[in-house]
Formats: sequence, C-alpha cells, structure tokens
Amino acid sequence: MTKLEREMSAFFAGLYPGESRPLVFGEGKSDARTVLIGEAPGEQEALQGRPFVGKAGKNLDELLGLAGIDRESVYITNVVKIRPTRVSDAGRTVNRAPTREEIELFLPWLRKELAGVAMRRVVTLGNVPLKALLGAKATIGEAHGQRLEWNGIPLWPMYHPASIIYNRALRPVYEEDIRRLGEVIRREDGQ
Ligand code: URA
Repeated sequence: MTKLEREMSAFFAGLYPGESRPLVFGEGKSDARTVLIGEAPGEQEALQGRPFVGKAGKNLDELLGLAGIDRESVYITNVVKIRPTRVSDAGRTVNRAPTREEIELFLPWLRKELAGVAMRRVVTLGNVPLKALLGAKATIGEAHGQRLEWNGIPLWPMYHPASIIYNRALRPVYEEDIRRLGEVIRREDGQ
C-alpha cells in the first residue's frame, strides 16, 4: 500500500466504522501517460479490490483493444473508491450511482492520487468523473470524444464502458471516440 492509500484507509475507516466497505484503489504505473477515471467500483471490483474487472471492465478492455491501447500502459481509477449500493425491491444488494456527497468526499483524494501520476492526459468514463472534474454543466452527450482541458492538461471525455450494454446505438460512437484517442496517444507518446 502506498502512503496515500494508507491515509485514505485510515480516513474512511473512521467514517464507516464497523462497516465492511473496502476501498478500491487506482491501478497502474506512476509514470503512466494516460489516466482513465471511472465512476465507482461495482460488485466484482469490490470483491477483487481492483478497478474495472467486472462486466464494465470487460467492455473497457475490449474497447481499449480496438483502439490499440494497452491496459498495462494506462493508470485506471475511480472518483469514488467504495461500491455504492442499495437494497432492491427484491431484497438484493445492487449498485447505485454515487451521491453528490460521496463524490465530494472522495474528490480531494482523487486530486492527491492524480498528483502522483506523471500523466499527460485524463480520460473520463461517463458523466460522474466528467462533472467531478469540470463541473455540473459538462455533459457526456455533448462533450464525448472532444479534447477539453483540466488543470493544464487535455481531458478526453468518453462514454462509460457500461453504457454500450444499455444503449447499443452508442457502440459505433464509442468506437470512433476511442479509436481517435488511440491515434492521439500513439502520435503524442510514440506508442
Ligand atoms: N464502473 C466504474 O465506473 N468503475 C469500475 O471500476 C467498475 C465499473
């Protein structure tokens, strides 16, 4: 565990005493040029303690593959590091979107985490990380695939990889966005 991860663990253990809410930290090298930021871990991520290893992760891996981007070469993390859950009508524990309070609680930690990565660009996956970094006015429907800016570096908003499960029409749009990103990465980083 890094020093920052130890600090986060201590902070959140105090917030959720007695609850089993494992933190899922970011994964990747500190000299990664590209950082991908998702929303929050789901069930598989919380179980395995790694970001994007469940269904959304499979889609992400496939899309990265199409764009010629090697998962090992990027740093992958989430805005919120705990799995947000609710109990469904059928009594099952299911995922829910993170609340504004959760996002605000985790945002300073995300900033500290990103300060430790020698990144040249940030790629947000879905609305949650886009709005967390750029503010409530930014929307993925308008911003996807464009080169925006955050903290002096390019920010590329992409749809969330799970969105193509729910909305098949998005798939060609997603593929086009991520292929272009792959070209940018190869041109700028020579990979
Ligand atoms: N969805 C996310 O946003 N992040 C994960 O790690 C998994 C699913």
